[in-house]
Order: sequence, then C-alpha cells, then structure tokens
Amino acid sequence: MSVLNKRKILVAGNWKMNNNNKETEAFLENLNVEFNNEKVEVLLCVPYTNLGVALNLTKNSNVKIGAQNCHFKENGAYTGEISPLMLKEIGAEYVILGHSERREYFNETDETVNLKLQAVLKNELKAVVCVGETLKQREDKITKEIISMQLKKGLKNILEEHVKNIIIAYEPIWAIGTGKTASKEQAQEVCEHIRNVLGEIFSKEKAEEILILYGGSVKAVNCEEIFKQKDIDGGLIGGASLNVSEFKEMISIANGI
Ligand code: PGA
Repeated sequence: MSVLNKRKILVAGNWKMNNNNKETEAFLENLNVEFNNEKVEVLLCVPYTNLGVALNLTKNSNVKIGAQNCHFKENGAYTGEISPLMLKEIGAEYVILGHSERREYFNETDETVNLKLQAVLKNELKAVVCVGETLKQREDKITKEIISMQLKKGLKNILEEHVKNIIIAYEPIWAIGTGKTASKEQAQEVCEHIRNVLGEIFSKEKAEEILILYGGSVKAVNCEEIFKQKDIDGGLIGGASLNVSEFKEMISIANGI
C-alpha cells in the first residue's frame, strides 16, 4: 500500500444465517486480538437475533457490529422487516446492502438498494454496498458495465456529505462460497474501475476516501495479497469469518501490512 494511501483496512465478517447467541458469545470472548485502530477496522455483520449480545460484548472494544440488511422505511406495516432506525436505536453502526444473495433470493434490485442506502444514511449508519458480476457476465466481458450500472443506480441521489458513511464491497458472484477467489489482479482491476466510477459520481478526491472491499472466498491464506492491492481496502469475509482463529489471523495480517 502506498505511503500516501491513508485509507484504513476494514476486515469485515459476514456471518450470513449462522451462529446463535451462545456461539456469538463464545466467538467474541475469543476475539482477543490486538490491532492498531488507526490502521485497521474490524466489523462483524451478524444475524438480527445476535445483535443484542454482540453489541453488549463489544461495548468496550474496537470491534464494530452491523446487520446484513434492513428495510428502507423507518416503521410501518412491513411484517418481518427491521428498519435502519431500529438498528440505530440498538447501537448497530453498519449494515450490508445489496448482497448478491439478497439480490438472488429476495428480489433485491439496484433501485431497492438505493432506497435502503438513502434510509441508512439518513439514520447515520454506515452502509457496505455490494456489487458484483455473475460468471456469465464475466465470460461475456461485461463485468465493468455491470458494476458501473450497479454503482450508478445504487448510489443515485446520494449527497457528497454522506460519502464518508459508504463502503463498497466488490463481490464477484462466482467467487462467493465457491472456494474460487478472483486473482489479486482481477480483484484490483475491478476495484480500480469502481474507484473511477465513484470519481465520476462524486469527485476524484471523494472517491479516494471511500473504502472498497473485496469479497469472495477470502481467507487467511489469501487475504494478504488481496489487502495489499492499491484500490482494495479490506475484505468482506463470509465462510472464513465464522472461525474465530482464522478471523483473528486475518486481522493480524491486516495489522501487519
Ligand atoms: P465467502 O462469502 O467469503 O464465504 O465467499 C463472502 C460474502 O458473501 O460476503
């Protein structure tokens, strides 16, 4: 990473629909890892039902807690939904938006991602906005077009003053949970493209401030080369974030870069 690059490295776990309260407790009690807070940020996005326990156990630590989704309204007749206001009230700081699993199984679109993003930013939470192409789109050589479109629609009408609360996660769908990681060159190429598009949407200067994560089969053995890429500022880690020793190892690796 260049000396001029002042962006932090964000090591973010996405637990998906895993871990109960007891397992959350055991994980957090074992997450006794030292890191330089100026340089590294650690985030765990847990199921809604674990937020209370996770927030309580991280009260006196540098570990941040987030959700994996939310609705775009603050309240109302939306049975089964959780609003950004509710997340804010219990002390969550982050929320993942537009994960490919939500796009695939829950009809999430760039338009709903945008509505959710506006609501999340209004409630002063930080959003991790996910973008990424399918294998077919990569083979058809339209990855960059797809990513540009997801960013332009997903970030529509977002004010520059809110940019500090936006993180982008590049997650090629073909690399999620498959054991297939994008090569560091492939990941860097798309993350650089993302930064250029962010520069067009906001400004070049603002785009330099935004953290861009890579996600898709990130683990302890491959995270270092990924985190060292110029336009990659950490990882959104699924499977490997469920194992506390592996997660700690990734935090230590980020801390040593
Ligand atoms: P994975 O998931 O690390 O298990 O591939 C990443 C994600 O879906 O965020």
